[in-house]
Amino acid sequence: MRFGFSTAGESHGPGEVTLVHGVPAGLGLVAGDVNRDLARRQRGYGRGGRQKIEKDEIEFLGGVRHGYTLGSPIAMLVRNQDYANWEARMTPDPPEEGVPPTKKVTLPRPGHADLAGMQKYAFDDLRNVLERSSARETTARVAAGGVAKKLLAAFGIIVNSAVYRVGAASFDKERAALLAAKADDSEVRCPDEEATERMKAEIDAARYARDALGGEFVVVAEGCPPGLGSYVDWRDKLDAKLAHAVMSINAIKGVEIGLGFGVASRRSSEVQDEILLSEPDGELVRSSNRLGGFEGGMTNGEPVVVAAAMKPISTIAKALRTVDLSTYEPSRAFRERADTAAVPAAAVIGESMVAVVLAEAFLEKFGADNMTDIRASYDSYTTRLRDASRNASRDPETRP
Ligand SMILES: Cc1cc2nc3c(=O)[nH]c(=O)nc-3n(C[C@H](O)[C@H](O)[C@H](O)COP(=O)(O)O)c2cc1C
Repeated sequence: MRFGFSTAGESHGPGEVTLVHGVPAGLGLVAGDVNRDLARRQRGYGRGGRQKIEKDEIEFLGGVRHGYTLGSPIAMLVRNQDYANWEARMTPDPPEEGVPPTKKVTLPRPGHADLAGMQKYAFDDLRNVLERSSARETTARVAAGGVAKKLLAAFGIIVNSAVYRVGAASFDKERAALLAAKADDSEVRCPDEEATERMKAEIDAARYARDALGGEFVVVAEGCPPGLGSYVDWRDKLDAKLAHAVMSINAIKGVEIGLGFGVASRRSSEVQDEILLSEPDGELVRSSNRLGGFEGGMTNGEPVVVAAAMKPISTIAKALRTVDLSTYEPSRAFRERADTAAVPAAAVIGESMVAVVLAEAFLEKFGADNMTDIRASYDSYTTRLRDASRNASRDPETRP
């Protein structure tokens, strides 16, 4: 089975479940590999009270033995600590006789799945929608990303991210991408102290105004070999798969690869990355990486650079107008505990989704059963590419 994952779980239910399939046998994997990113997802200036309740850690329920993957599906569970406060409202069991039913939520929040979700699934309680559409589900995605990142790291592919905008406070996107490995030092995951302070002030001002903010982040994957993905079939174009995966994150409204929308206003010579020979080795290198590591739907050996725009958090203290679906009277949106800004967390989720897509393409190219065979296939490919320049410079008579 191809590498991929599914998730299950409601925000205030017993837990978040991740099932990762297509993981090769023989990959070293311990809970700490995954928990590190779960903790990074929970941090960030501007988060709400929920993160103080939860301490996200996985339990492996299958697929790992004695620190190594078995090639079977990997099942992971993160228990929701908050379930203890929500058991009566979220229990899977039918209500006991004589116990009054829990209060229905009927005030859909603009900007959420609430209204269309109730219409689509014929619910009269929007809790049935919001519990699953909540970004709490991204906990399970980050768990899958932890597995993908461990696999990629075994081949020198490292995925990082950085925030370069929160509301009106911004930092240079290219520099953010270059410095992404340092982003965890900042409370907003922006690798610049001065910009960090401006972003924090922006969050404070939005909170004071009982409003909320979005922003922009960039994910960078270094060390990808050329040729992941394919130009041959539209479904295999890897930049498109990345766009899909990153756009699927809650509140993401735009995705860019490299310059992204910036390509439209420039001349061609300011957009393409010229192909040069390095000195003294004569290896193929690029003059720049403006296309974010992609040509023809394939990685080209340069770092993969994917940026995303997140809309402001929809649930705000200054409650927005809505209609009560039990009476069809004008009203104000229902308010559940909410973040003021969650761009730093979204960036970590972005890393996870990028890692999952790259891992799938990597295993598609190099095989998927076990790490030994994948390593042999990877070494043979990278050796062929490295040797090409040496062979080309030889006398044509002796060229293989
Ligand atoms: C990490 C993260 C945290 C979020 N926290 C909140 C929140 O506290 N309150 C809220 O209303 N929306 C929050 N959102 C956004 C909603 O989940 C999202 O807007 C909603 O599910 C609707 O999806 P859409 O914006 O993609 O249409 C968060 C999103 C992310 C990625």
